[in-house]
Amino acid sequence: MTTITLPAIESGEVDLVTGGGKLRAPGYLLKEKSVQIDVEMAEQLVSAARSAADGAYAPFSRFHVGAAVIMKDDPGKRIFSGSNVENSSFGATICAERAAIASASAQGLRKISLLAVSTPETLDMPLSQRSPCGLCRQVIREFADEDTLIICDSGEEELLGDVLDIERLLPFGFRFAAQ
Ligand code: THU
Repeated sequence: MTTITLPAIESGEVDLVTGGGKLRAPGYLLKEKSVQIDVEMAEQLVSAARSAADGAYAPFSRFHVGAAVIMKDDPGKRIFSGSNVENSSFGATICAERAAIASASAQGLRKISLLAVSTPETLDMPLSQRSPCGLCRQVIREFADEDTLIICDSGEEELLGDVLDIERLLPFGFRFAAQ
């Protein structure tokens, strides 16, 4: 296990007084956080995500995405992978991350330990073009806890990927009050 430190994110709340009432820009505070990562497992997962992208069905966008996940509650520490499955009715498209998570969930697993996503066509692009979409972030959140890490593959030499936790990936993500 290797310890890595995720950076602090801090912004203060700001009240905006307008003619129509007050608006609030909420602040956000994430303290610097040390997390444990099994680097060998991370390497395997990124490589599994890259391989999964080969199986993407993406005739419309031609944008291939692969994802791979290891679940905390899986004693076998199996790798579940998925790729995007597009559809003629564009809205029916399934993203790679959700496909991988659905596959793990189907085995009764509910806690993501590590998830890797790979976008072979944009590995040299900014993180916004290599990281999970909003819908997938919310789905990751459902099965994430404070130890969950998300790795976005990168084409940069010597860089295994960008590492985020769910609070850094999805600030203010929705939570159903009953949970
Ligand atoms: N896609 C994913 O598989 N995951 C994401 O997080 C972003 C987008 C897919 C959906 C679609 O098939 C293609 O990439 C272009 O949006």
